[in-house]
Amino acid sequence: MKIECSSEEFANDLQDIVNLFFDEEECPYAIRHTFERAGNNISSMFSLQQPDMPEEQFGKTLLLPPNLDVLREKSLVKRFFKNQLYEILTLKTKKSLPWGSLTGVRPTKFARDLVERGEVKPHLISETLVRDYHVSGDKARLVTQILQNQKGVIKNDKLVDLFINIPICPTRCNYCSFISSELKAVSGRVDEYVDCVLKELDAMKKVIDERSYIVRNIYIGGGTPTVLTTEQLERLLSQINYPVSEFTVECGRADTITAEKLAILKKHGVTRISINPQTFCEATLKRIGRKSTNKEVFDAYMLAMKEDFVVNMDIIAGLSGERLGIFKRTIATLLELYPQNITLHTLSVKNASQIRGEEVKFKDDITRMVEYAEKTLLENGYKPYYMYRQKHQVGGLENVGFFRDDNVCIFNIDSMEDTSSVIALGAGAISKRVFNIQNRIERLPNCKFIQDYIARIDEMIAKKVQFFS
Ligand SMILES: C[S@@+](CC[C@H](N)C(=O)[O-])C[C@H]1O[C@@H](n2cnc3c(N)ncnc32)[C@H](O)[C@@H]1O
Ligand code: SF4
Repeated sequence: MKIECSSEEFANDLQDIVNLFFDEEECPYAIRHTFERAGNNISSMFSLQQPDMPEEQFGKTLLLPPNLDVLREKSLVKRFFKNQLYEILTLKTKKSLPWGSLTGVRPTKFARDLVERGEVKPHLISETLVRDYHVSGDKARLVTQILQNQKGVIKNDKLVDLFINIPICPTRCNYCSFISSELKAVSGRVDEYVDCVLKELDAMKKVIDERSYIVRNIYIGGGTPTVLTTEQLERLLSQINYPVSEFTVECGRADTITAEKLAILKKHGVTRISINPQTFCEATLKRIGRKSTNKEVFDAYMLAMKEDFVVNMDIIAGLSGERLGIFKRTIATLLELYPQNITLHTLSVKNASQIRGEEVKFKDDITRMVEYAEKTLLENGYKPYYMYRQKHQVGGLENVGFFRDDNVCIFNIDSMEDTSSVIALGAGAISKRVFNIQNRIERLPNCKFIQDYIARIDEMIAKKVQFFS
């Protein structure tokens, strides 16, 4: 049921709070919100009505500080309404949520902005998140640790990251929420796709030179970039020659990794790769339609160690049919392998996934899985260094990247914290221009699907050249 608001301005934000409490089940209350303003006083009223029950009303008043600018004032009022609704729904449902009333923001970026605007002293971040936003103590501490581990990442308008998207996979995993085509559906067009990416790259190389941009990191993601043949990989990588200290290729599926492909990556300066098990339970792998085995992961990892790559491994908490015990075994195997980076995802159920929300069983286990993983990784020398939340993540939880020793992936921090511009090439790639001094960000998306991307390549190149000029 949709919340009814006297002002459309806040309707979506308040609906997000309702959705946190009632993600799949129908909200049993008809909720109405009204407010009045007298000078700097805002009186806010929520009415909750259940069928055949008397209406309940909850009022609260906010006294706004004087002389606020319009944007700041709107943000304070929105926060006040969201918190009020959060408190009412906590009272009615007896539920509290890990990230409290924080929705629609990246928690670490939100906390960093509070500090940078001078509203909160750095050592009071954790306390502020708990007190003012109802964030749990554990999650507030996670934010503080991440901010600490991100210290030293430089912001500069001349620094850019280069991102290339290869949205093609050998087959589709049933939980996946990313736009990516199965190889068999596009196999006749992959060479053409690589040509288009190279055409974009060529145009952007000129802009990089003319505007004196400095490429700081390179990331080839997907999809599954190592689905490309050795020839296609060679053709692509031989054209990328920036002297960066961090160059990632998200190989992902172990069944696409061969010694020959890794040697090509090494030859062209790649420093970091992903080999993603998602889980080490083979029964789960079959259930989720992920055609990659543990042996393939172990073999690929051995090859990667021989080539001396920094390795990241992705896992997902909440995969179909998994309970805490199975998940603990995945963590134990990961710790035996001991990759430099581990990214812990919580299942997110979006329209693009083949699975639906009602198929997600054992939701309480998922909260315990994430708690267990975060605690166990910390105990074993890993530290969190970036995080993000997506809509429709089971339990309102998060994705967290961990590192050991000094192996943070700066590109991941740049992506989540908007610390650098990104020149993004390929279908579905979104370029970003960060204007640090003006505290402003602009984005420019490419066409999402490979066929449209190929058909409209010249138009996208022209826009991108203009965007970064
Ligand atoms: C862009 S995908 C590419 C990775 C690569 N193709 C692979 O499958 O190994 C990056 C990661 O997102 C995560 N992911 C994909 N769909 C997800 C979902 N619905 N919920 C949570 N995590 C998801 C997986 O852990 C995946 O490794
Ligand atoms: S999880 Fe990876 S391999 Fe599976 S469909 Fe998504 S992008 Fe492709």
